[in-house]
Amino acid sequence: MSEQAVKRYVIVGMGVRSAFYYQAIIQKHKDVAKLVGICDTNQTRMNAANDRIEELGGERVPTYKAEDFDKMVQEQKADVVIVTTIDKFHHTYCIRAMELGCDAITEKPMTIDEEKLQAMIDAEKRTGKQIRVLFNYRYAPHHTKVRELIASGLIGDISTVHMDWILDCAHGSDFMRRWHREKANSGGIQMHKSIHHFDLVHFWLGTEPEMVYCLGGLKFYGRENAIKRGEKNLGERYLGNEDAKDDPFAIHIDKNAQLKKLYLEAEHEDGYIRDRNCFADGITIEDTLSMIIKYKDGAVMTYNTYAFAPWEGYRCTFNGTKGRIEINVTEGGYSAGGEAVTKHGLTDLEKNYIQGGVEQTTIVVYPLWDKPYVVDVVKGEGGHGGGDPVLLEDVLVGAKKDDFKRAAFIRDGGNAVLVACGANKSMATGLPVNVQELVKW
Ligand SMILES: NC(=O)c1ccc[n+]([C@@H]2O[C@H](COP(=O)([O-])OP(=O)(O)OC[C@H]3O[C@@H](n4cnc5c(N)ncnc54)[C@H](O)[C@@H]3O)[C@@H](O)[C@H]2O)c1
Repeated sequence: MSEQAVKRYVIVGMGVRSAFYYQAIIQKHKDVAKLVGICDTNQTRMNAANDRIEELGGERVPTYKAEDFDKMVQEQKADVVIVTTIDKFHHTYCIRAMELGCDAITEKPMTIDEEKLQAMIDAEKRTGKQIRVLFNYRYAPHHTKVRELIASGLIGDISTVHMDWILDCAHGSDFMRRWHREKANSGGIQMHKSIHHFDLVHFWLGTEPEMVYCLGGLKFYGRENAIKRGEKNLGERYLGNEDAKDDPFAIHIDKNAQLKKLYLEAEHEDGYIRDRNCFADGITIEDTLSMIIKYKDGAVMTYNTYAFAPWEGYRCTFNGTKGRIEINVTEGGYSAGGEAVTKHGLTDLEKNYIQGGVEQTTIVVYPLWDKPYVVDVVKGEGGHGGGDPVLLEDVLVGAKKDDFKRAAFIRDGGNAVLVACGANKSMATGLPVNVQELVKW
């Protein structure tokens, strides 16, 4: 491969997620991709990323503080900027990257409100560059399979979708421990997390959202709820907190090597506290949401999520003019520090059912006048049932022809953001929101 064919990447936002990209760039895809710089507000986290890059067999790369982002892009002659900062800054770096002549790849959510979304749409038009959004869920084999089944017309036109996607306590509480807990940073779990679910429905049905109605609230986390239930540990954070010792909601950032290096040892620079008590004050997001979403193709979804469930996964049903599809997925094993979640005390059957990536997926097709049947899903190696390596190859090497059209760009990212904007507006006003009126494409 000639040197010209190697794209030069920089990454901004060097927290835990950035490793997903730099590992793929410096290892599997090094013949087509080169990491040439990293940027963050926090030097300690950039140094930790460089240590990890070395451990993974790469070479340390130049680091740039956030105010030197332009300098990095120009000095390092970047072709592509990967944005893995906290959510509220995705638009800033995507827009600036395009103004400096780069394409941008951003983590979800593409942004967190309609003003920022409009600015991204306008910048893309103005610069002729492109924003790509990484919706990794699309690439998980069971999700791709659902798209294939629906697109084949197997169950006819879809009239209604019912999705019940629940987040377990280990995962749900982690949104309450750090920046996600403030809506101004993340847009809430409807923006930060449910955005995956909203996008999947757009992807599965091949449609766009039109109207959103939402009721939601903070029903479990936060100080007020904790006091009502008589929770014992109400301290500000878990570090140095005696009551955290036997609190199942606590994480111990001084005990986990990754959390210690990335967050505890970096705290002195910016005051980013990774282990806030999920029952401490200051949470401005919801942990429970019930929504109705109407789509352009006439389908309607009822959607429920909550972030304090005993297990993680979802049940989704699609009701069509020729039949019904049901998909049940048990996920789990999320842990803040990435350490293995214990399976101690479970039988082999239970272990298989309860933990370990995409543990259990069942897709059943119910034709109107025929016998129901289970659809096989072939999983691959790697994260999200083998979806992550496919995604990384698609992004870094370039798409082979993809019959499922999984690559997501500004309109896809934006439509998912619009559903979450609609949820936030609807909760504020008590009214349904026509979300396509929020921006001009
Ligand atoms: N698709 C997925 O499965 C998935 C999983 C995890 C995270 N994510 C996304 O990745 C992003 C990062 O999440 P994370 O868990 O790594 O968070 P993190 O808190 O570990 O890292 C965020 C980083 O952004 C940096 N930052 C904050 N403000 C900045 C600024 N103005 N300029 C430059 N850097 C700044 C912080 O210092 C930190 O290093 C989020 O948008 C999140 O939604 C996606």
